[in-house]
Amino acid sequence: MIEFLHVYKTYPGPVHALKNVELKIGKGEFVFLTGPSGAGKTTLFKMISAYDTATSGDVKVAGYNLQEIQDKQIPFFRRKIGVVFQDFKLLKDRTIFENVALPLLVRGDKAQSVQRRVYDVLEQVGLAHKHDQYPDFISGGEQQRTAIARAIIHQPGVLIADEPTGNLDPRLSEEIMDLLERVCSQGTTVFVATHDHEMVKRRKKRTLELKDGAIVGDTL
Ligand SMILES: Nc1ncnc2c1ncn2[C@@H]1O[C@H](COP(=O)(O)OP(=O)(O)OP(=O)(O)O)[C@@H](O)[C@H]1O
Ligand SMILES: [Mg+2]
Repeated sequence: MIEFLHVYKTYPGPVHALKNVELKIGKGEFVFLTGPSGAGKTTLFKMISAYDTATSGDVKVAGYNLQEIQDKQIPFFRRKIGVVFQDFKLLKDRTIFENVALPLLVRGDKAQSVQRRVYDVLEQVGLAHKHDQYPDFISGGEQQRTAIARAIIHQPGVLIADEPTGNLDPRLSEEIMDLLERVCSQGTTVFVATHDHEMVKRRKKRTLELKDGAIVGDTL
């Protein structure tokens, strides 16, 4: 589902943000990505989501070789993945329902099927009762659950989450991790970057460790 072959990313400076990264994550796996600030976690996720391209090497995700992908294919590629950020990135002038519906409306789904699917997913994340609320009027945990609902609404094969619990207290963080594990158990490959070592230890999942742009650990 996700494969990196000899991937380097160098920013102007030069900053060597990724150095010869090799990794392989299979369909339906749940994997953590850890490493200190500046290790390259967000850079690696930008390569996976095609928000940026590697300086050299191959990045393959959901059947696409992102080094060779054409700009016009990127919207189609994005339909195969879901992305969750630390700061939720919800549209504040749209309701919870509208935020979650957006990816389906953008791809041209019919209103009736959108409505059914959105209520289905809001039910899954426990937010059906907040559907007509605005993001500023719900809790941080609820905002992140909304963001996860939006990220899985189109049933992506891969879900990446960059510090999804970074702004949440420990109880809400556990709730979000439970939800991500549930998404994985339904067949989605889930890749989560986090600073929270205690949580990583408790969850007992495969963990990749980045340091100074290089993978220095791959443990279960
Ligand atoms: N657009 C950019 N231009 C130049 N340097 C960058 C850019 N983005 C990231 N970097 C540098 O690349 C390195 C890796 O950054 P990255 O954001 O991937 O780290 P991170 O592991 O996500 O850190 P954090 O835990 O703080 O989020 C850092 O040295 C950073 O300063
Ligand atoms: Mg980061």
